[in-house]
Amino acid sequence: MSGMFITLEGPDGCGKSTQINPLADYLRSKGRMVFTTREPGGTEISDQVRQIIMAMKNTSMHPRTELLLFLSARAQLVEEVIRPRLAAGEVIISDRYADSTLAYQGYGHGVDLDVIRRLLDFATGGLKPDLTLLLDVNADEGLRRRQSCGGEWNRLDAYQLEFHRRVQVGYHKLAALEPERWVTIDASQPSEMVQLLIRQVVDDRVV
Ligand code: TMP
Repeated sequence: MSGMFITLEGPDGCGKSTQINPLADYLRSKGRMVFTTREPGGTEISDQVRQIIMAMKNTSMHPRTELLLFLSARAQLVEEVIRPRLAAGEVIISDRYADSTLAYQGYGHGVDLDVIRRLLDFATGGLKPDLTLLLDVNADEGLRRRQSCGGEWNRLDAYQLEFHRRVQVGYHKLAALEPERWVTIDASQPSEMVQLLIRQVVDDRVV
C-alpha cells in the first residue's frame, strides 16, 4: 500500500485533537498502518522548538521569528518522521502542518504569502498533504472552547480575537484555492457527528 499524508487544520478550539485518535483507530481497523503527530512538535528537537514558540514569557517574539521557528520544527519532523513513514506505506495524520503557517503567520500576522510559500517549500522539500480536513469553527466559539476546557493556554491563543478571525477567513481562502485537497467540515456540531463526517471523507479517499 502506498503512504498517505492527511492533515487536520482549523482555528484554535476546533476540536482537532479530539478527532485525531478516533480517526487513527478507524483507519487501523481497516488494516492500515497509521502514525499520528502534531505541529509544532513530533520529534525531540521539534518539541524543544515548540516550548520556545508557545512560552507565554516570549511576548516580544517578532512574527518573522515565529514563522522561522515553526518552519524549523517542521523541517525536522518531515525529515525524521513523515518522509520515512510515508515511504514505508504508512498513513500519517498530522494535527496541523504547513497550512497553519499560511493561516496564522500569513493571514493572521500579515506576513507575505508568497514569501511563506517559498520558505515552506524549502523547509518541507515540497512535501504537501494528500488530503486536508478543515475543521471549521467560528473563531469566537473556538476561543471560548479553549478557555472553558481548561487545557493548555499558550502565547498564540492569547493573540487578539481579530487575529483569530483573520486566521479563520484565511483558512476559507486556502480551502477555496485547492478544492481537490481540502474538505471542510462544520466542527460546531457534536464531536461524534464530526468524527462520522471525517470517516466518510476518509472512506472515499483512503480505504
Ligand atoms: P495547538 O497545538 O493547540 O494547535 O497549538 C498550536 C498553535 O500554534 C496554534 O495556535 C496554531 C499555531 N501555529 C501557527 O501559528 N503556525 C504554524 O505553522 C503551526 C503549526 C501552528
